[in-house]
Amino acid sequence: MSTEKFDKAAATWDEKPKRQELAAALVAAMKKSLPLSGEMAALEIGCGTGLLTCALAGLLKSIVATDTSTGMLAVLDDKIAALGLHNVETKRLDLLSHHLLPAASFDLIYSGMTLHHIKETRAVLAACFAHLKPGGTLALADLDKEDGSFHDDMGGVAHCGFDRNQLADLAASCGFDQIRFSTAHSLLKEKGKGHMVAYPVFLMTAIRP
Ligand SMILES: C[S@@+](CC[C@H](N)C(=O)[O-])C[C@H]1O[C@@H](n2cnc3c(N)ncnc32)[C@H](O)[C@@H]1O
Repeated sequence: MSTEKFDKAAATWDEKPKRQELAAALVAAMKKSLPLSGEMAALEIGCGTGLLTCALAGLLKSIVATDTSTGMLAVLDDKIAALGLHNVETKRLDLLSHHLLPAASFDLIYSGMTLHHIKETRAVLAACFAHLKPGGTLALADLDKEDGSFHDDMGGVAHCGFDRNQLADLAASCGFDQIRFSTAHSLLKEKGKGHMVAYPVFLMTAIRP
C-alpha cells in the first residue's frame, strides 16, 4: 500500500479532536482490560503519530512503535524528544515483510485503527502470534463491520471494518486463546446534511498460550 496518504496527513493528524477522543477511549479500554505493567515489552503496529504509544509509555517497560509511513514516524520522533520518552523507539516497518524483530519477544502487541488498512488480516494475526512471548497479550482496536461509508477517501482501505465473530475465528485459527471483545468507543460522523452515523470501535484482546 502507498504510504503517501499518511505521510501527507501526518503533520496535522493530531489536530482533529475526534482522533484524540478515540485514542483516549482506546487507552482507557486497554487499561481496563489488560494487565499493563512496567515489566512489559510492547510493540505497536501502525503507531501513526503515537497517540496510543505516548499515552501508554509511562505504564510499560518499553515500546517499539512501528509504522510504514515516514511522515507519521517523524511526527512521533519529535513528540518522543519533546516528552523525553526514553523507553520508546520507532521503526519503519511492515510486520508482514520484514525479519528485523526477534520472534517471541513481546509481552504485548497493540494497534488502533490499523488492521483495516492491511489486506491480509490472518497474516497480521499470525505475525502477532509469532512475535508475542507465550502468555503475551494481543490488543487490537478497529471498526466494527460498516457499510463502506466511514471513509470519505477509500485509498489504502482494505476492509470496511470487521465482523467480531469472523475475526475471533481467524485469531483462534492462528492459535490465540481467551479472545474477548468490548466496545471501546463510537465514532460519530455526519453523513449527509444533519444525518449522524455512529461507527462502533471494538477492542479485541487475546492471549498467546
Ligand atoms: C488510521 S491510522 C492510525 C494511526 C494511529 N494508530 C492512531 O490511532 O492515530 C493507520 C496507520 O497505519 C499505518 N499502516 C498502514 N499499513 C500499515 C502496515 N502494513 N504496517 C504498519 N503500519 C501500517 C499507516 O501509515 C497509519 O499511520
